[in-house]
Amino acid sequence: MGTMEDCCVTECTRCPALVDSRSRIVNGVGPEDADLLFVGEGPGANEDEHGEPFVGRSGSVLDDALRTAGLDRHDIRITNCVRCRPPENRDPKTDELANCRSYLERELATVDPEVIVTLGKVPSEHLLERSVAVTKEAGDLEEVRIDGAPRRLLISVHPAATLYDRSQAETFENALQRAAELAGVADSEGGQSRLDGF
Ligand code: URA
Repeated sequence: MGTMEDCCVTECTRCPALVDSRSRIVNGVGPEDADLLFVGEGPGANEDEHGEPFVGRSGSVLDDALRTAGLDRHDIRITNCVRCRPPENRDPKTDELANCRSYLERELATVDPEVIVTLGKVPSEHLLERSVAVTKEAGDLEEVRIDGAPRRLLISVHPAATLYDRSQAETFENALQRAAELAGVADSEGGQSRLDGF
């Protein structure tokens, strides 16, 4: 297992287009012994500005859904498939995902989470190495080998999907509820969805 310094990339010039578009490298945040590791696609404008994943609108949606599931952002680790903002917020390209993969694998080995939660199509397909119909497969748990180690991966829609399509909000919340249960970390006192059961 590595140390957190291994997870923190301070210098990288592997992707010329991203070196041009970024203002900084955005590393993962959260405890190095977190039970849940959330993986997004890549930094957007807000993340690039603040140097932290999911701090913009998608971040607010994520924080709300975490709370509903009885989870706290400070107890989970959050990272991205690529650590530099792609130009015009385009999807990261295959070679960019590949260039950044070793950093993600190092972070994964260090955190060694109970469950990885992939937020959206890009991280789901990147880590499962197959095409994924995220809306249909959200909430599904898969066993996958990543860098030689067996991992449990839970597919989720991206929080931004709930902004375009309200019906995805429930899909998103259900996936996070399942993540909390799988990791055994849901706060039994908290969570709107728990109250709904009474
Ligand atoms: N969307 C992502 O996939 N990652 C972020 O960090 C922010 C928005």
